[in-house]
Amino acid sequence: MTRWLVTGAGGMLGTDMVATLTSRGEPVTGLDRAGLDVTDAAAVTDAIAGRRPDVVVNCAAWTAVDDAEASEERALAVNAGGAANLAAACAGLGARLVQLSTDYVFAGDAGRPYAENDVPAPRTAYGRTKLAGERAVLDRLPGSAFVVRTAWLYGAHGPSFVGTMLKLEDRRPTVDVVDDQHGQPTWTVDVARQIIALVHSTAAPGIYHATSSGQTTWFGLAREIFGLLGADPARVRPIPSSALSRPAPRPAYSVLGHSAWAGPGIPPIGPWRTALRHAVPDLVAAQRDSASAG
Ligand SMILES: NC(=O)c1ccc[n+]([C@@H]2O[C@H](COP(=O)([O-])OP(=O)(O)OC[C@H]3O[C@@H](n4cnc5c(N)ncnc54)[C@H](OP(=O)(O)O)[C@@H]3O)[C@@H](O)[C@H]2O)c1
Repeated sequence: MTRWLVTGAGGMLGTDMVATLTSRGEPVTGLDRAGLDVTDAAAVTDAIAGRRPDVVVNCAAWTAVDDAEASEERALAVNAGGAANLAAACAGLGARLVQLSTDYVFAGDAGRPYAENDVPAPRTAYGRTKLAGERAVLDRLPGSAFVVRTAWLYGAHGPSFVGTMLKLEDRRPTVDVVDDQHGQPTWTVDVARQIIALVHSTAAPGIYHATSSGQTTWFGLAREIFGLLGADPARVRPIPSSALSRPAPRPAYSVLGHSAWAGPGIPPIGPWRTALRHAVPDLVAAQRDSASAG
C-alpha cells in the first residue's frame, strides 16, 4: 500500500489530488498551507519524518503569474525553495516526490509541441521560479523524482478560465477572448489520475507532460464552453492578445508533447473536448454550491 502526502492540498489541483486518491482507497494525508508551509524547512522535515509517506505530491505553489513579476524573490521562495525543502526531506527518508510544473518554463514560441527534453527558456518570473523548482527536485532526487508539467488547468475547486466563462455566460451578452494563444485545456482530475498511474508504474524518473491532447485557443475554449451550456457560441468574439495589457507576457504557443508516457506504457490524457464535457457539470455544480453557501 502506497502512503501519499499532498502539499498545497487546499488549492485547485491539490483538492482533486486528495479526492481522487481517497476515492480509490489510497491512504493520503492532505496538508494545506496552514497545515504545512513548504518554505519552512524544519516544518517540512518534521511533517515528512512524522508521516513517513512513500510519495509526496507537491501541489503547493505561488501561482499568481502577474504578481510574480514584481515579487520574484517571494515566488522563488515557494516555487523553488519549497520544492528544495521537500526534496531534501524526501531524500532523507527514501520517499519519492512528484513536483508539479508548467508550460511557462518554455519560451512559448515553438511551431511544434514542446518535448519533455526541450531546452526551457522561461520569459516570465513565474516561469523562472517554476524552472528553478524543477531543477531543485531533479538535482536532489535524480533517481526518485517526477516533474509533471501541466498547463491551462481548470477544476471545481479554484479559479480558472473555464470557471470564469461559466459565470460570464450567465452575466454578459458577449465576451471578448484572445484568439492568438494556443494550448491544451486540462482538467485537474485528469492530472491527478495521471500522477497516480505514473507512481504505480515502472516509469523512469524524470519529466512528464500531463496535459490534454489536441489544442485550441482561449477563444476556441470559450466557444466550446458556451456550446456545452446550450448558449450561442457566436456570443464569444475573438480579440488579439495585444488588446490586453498584463505584467507577465502570455506564451503564444503552450502545446506540450506526450512522448514520455510511452516508456511506462501509460496512455496520455485524452482529447481536451472530451475532458471538458465530463468536467463542466462538476464545475457548474460547484459554482451553484458556493453561490448558495454564501
Ligand atoms: N492553474 C494552472 O493553470 C496551472 C498551469 C500549469 C501548472 N500549474 C501548476 O500546478 C500546480 C497546482 O496549481 P493550482 O492551479 O492547483 O494552484 P492553486 O490553486 O493556486 O494552488 C496552490 C496552493 O499552494 C498553496 N501555497 C502557496 N504558498 C504556499 C506555501 N508557502 N506553502 C504551502 N502551500 C502554499 C496555496 O495556498 P493559498 O491559496 O493560501 O496561497 C494554494 O492552495 C502548481 O505547481 C502550478 O504551478 C498550474
